[in-house]
Parts: sequence; C-alpha cells; structure tokens
Amino acid sequence: MPRNAGFILATRPSREQPAGPHNFRLVESETGELAEGEVLVRNHFLSLDPYMRGRMNDAPSYAAPQALGEVMTGGTVGEVVATRNARHGLGEFVSLTGGWQLHSKSNGRDLRKIDVKALRAGMQIQAYLGALGMPGVTAWHGLNKIIAPKSGETVVVSAATGAVGSIAGQLAKIAGVRVVGIAGGAEKCAYARDELGFDECVDHRSPDFAGDMKAALPKGIDGLFENVGAAPFAQSMRRLNPFARIAICGLVASGYDGTPTALPDVRVLLEKRASMTGFIVSDHLDEWPQALRELGEQARAGRLKWRESIAEGLEAAPAAFFSMLKGGNFGKQLVKLI
Ligand SMILES: NC(=O)c1ccc[n+]([C@@H]2O[C@H](COP(=O)([O-])OP(=O)(O)OC[C@H]3O[C@@H](n4cnc5c(N)ncnc54)[C@H](OP(=O)(O)O)[C@@H]3O)[C@@H](O)[C@H]2O)c1
Repeated sequence: MPRNAGFILATRPSREQPAGPHNFRLVESETGELAEGEVLVRNHFLSLDPYMRGRMNDAPSYAAPQALGEVMTGGTVGEVVATRNARHGLGEFVSLTGGWQLHSKSNGRDLRKIDVKALRAGMQIQAYLGALGMPGVTAWHGLNKIIAPKSGETVVVSAATGAVGSIAGQLAKIAGVRVVGIAGGAEKCAYARDELGFDECVDHRSPDFAGDMKAALPKGIDGLFENVGAAPFAQSMRRLNPFARIAICGLVASGYDGTPTALPDVRVLLEKRASMTGFIVSDHLDEWPQALRELGEQARAGRLKWRESIAEGLEAAPAAFFSMLKGGNFGKQLVKLI
C-alpha cells in the first residue's frame, strides 16, 4: 500500500497568535491495509473552503470543531486505487470528504460516484468540488429556496466571482432578473460583467463604495445573496426593497476572530417586511440530487461558467487557504494533488 501525507491541525488560533499556516503540520503515515468494505482513494484535487476556518476554532457552531492532531477536513475528488467494497470498483472516480491528504480511506458511505460520461465528454473532475459540487448546491439552495427571484426583481450577490457567488449570480440571470455583484477589484468586476453576464458589479475596494452601490441599484434590492458580511453587507442592507429576501450564506469577512457582523438596527427588517434566513447546505441533503441534476444540465448547455485558482501540490494548501480567505483566489480555490 502507498505511503500517505496529509496536514493535521496541530494548534488552534488564539488572540496572541491569529490563524495562519503555522497551525497546520504536514505528517507522513502508512495507508495500511483495508478492512472489509473499505476503499482507498488517491485524491486528485482538494477543495479549500471558508468553513474550514471556523472548524479551526474550538467554539460551538453548526458542526463540531476539527479535532487537534487529525487530518484537516475537506472535500476531495479522486480515483479508487484499492477496494474491498463491492459497490466501488478500481478506477472509479469519486468525490468524498477526503481531507487535506494524498490518500483517503473510506467505508464507502461518503463516496459520491462521478459521472464517467460527463468526464469523457470533457467535464474536468475538479468541477465536482465547485459548480457541480457543494458550492454549486449552496448557490442553488440560497437562490431558489430562499431568494426565489421573480421577474423584474434585482438580486445582489457578494463575493460575486467566488465558487458560490459566481454560480448564484448566473442562476439568478438564468431566472431572468437583474443581477448586481460585489467583488474585490476591477479585474474581478470585469469578469463578473463580461464573462458571467452580471448586469453590474461594484468593487468593494472603491473609495466611494457606498456611492457606487447607490448608482448600481437604482431600483433597490429584492434578493440579497450574502457571502461576505462587513461593508458589502452593510451597504446592501441600506438598499433593501419592501419584502426583500436575504439569504445569509456566509460571513467570510468577519466572525472567526470574534469580530461580529453587526446589523445597525433590526427595525429595517420590520420596516421593509424583509426576511433574513441563514442556511447550511448540508442540512438539505434531500435537495442535492435535484440541484446537481439542474446544475449539470446548465453546465452542459454552456449556461454556467466558472474559474479556478489552483495551488500546486499538497504543501501549498495552507498558504492557498489563507490567501483565499482574503480574496487571493479568483474563482474556486483548489489544490492539485497529483
Ligand atoms: N451556508 C453554506 O452552506 C455555505 C456553503 C459553502 C460556502 N458558504 C459560504 O459562502 C461564501 C463564499 O464561499 P466560497 O467557497 O465561494 O468562497 P469564495 O467566494 O470563492 O472565496 C472567498 C471570497 O470572499 C471574499 N472576501 C473575503 N474577505 C472579504 C472582505 N473583507 N470583504 C469583501 N469580500 C471578501 C473574496 O472575494 P473578493 O476578492 O471578491 O472580495 C474571496 O475571494 C463564504 O462565506 C462561505 O463560508 C456557505
């Protein structure tokens, strides 16, 4: 059996020593023999996602903290290279919660088979960690189940060129509404408009971000797909229309270090008769088959586009992760492991 290498969470962030690559340690190990029912997957790509930052803290949340000394959690795609499970043959391509490591053992329960026909037709395997995986389903749920846009409305999406935001915005365009993105920098905004088809994109680094938001939103906001918190959230909340729906998908700009995302006055929800709903995509597993089917159809029809930032090699994972949290990525952040 091959030798393995992976990153464990060695220490937790603290006030004195904020989170950084120093919290992780690369360890080598034996993969060991497979028990009956197990498979060994050689991971090809690792997904780096903002939720991982929350798991580094020993704090109550919707999921248990990452255990110290164990391989950091994370989604991967790869190939079955050894199997004692009759349902998963050698050479099968799968997605799984494989962790920050080269090889992952699985009892088969978390394996999702990747459609070989789609791969043969040119779909790249790492798409199943992005638009055709968890981030895509997140966009699908927040847009369709919470915002549910109606003709003539305006939807705002923050982190507009990221893994979730890029898909949420394109699904909103497919639904036929006006879509305004918020992204960091002129290049990302140009991409949102010119490639993803957003009607407008506002650069949150602009010295007159508030004025730019006002100009981009002459008819206000009916649906807010919030990925960020901080200034993008604060400015969007000032432009809500009556009966607006706000999907709180993520607050990547705040929270993990104890900085709260504040709502200046809850009265805005009353006066606008607005609804604000937080959601976690793993609570909606029953919707995944429909969402993945629809996302696949849209992708095959050429109506969904995406970009990837690919870090090369497992060793690059910690730096790429912290860069992504600050907007260093342009599209879905991945690590190529093979
Ligand atoms: N609820 C769920 O089930 C669920 C599932 C998946 C993801 N999420 C959430 O969805 C959000 C997006 O995740 P993702 O995987 O697609 O990541 P991503 O958008 O690909 O990457 C994170 C992006 O956040 C933006 N950002 C970071 N700090 C910022 C700041 N201070 N101000 C403004 N923007 C900032 C950056 O974009 P710019 O350079 O454009 O600013 C960065 O590229 C995250 O909040 C994540 O936690 C939620």
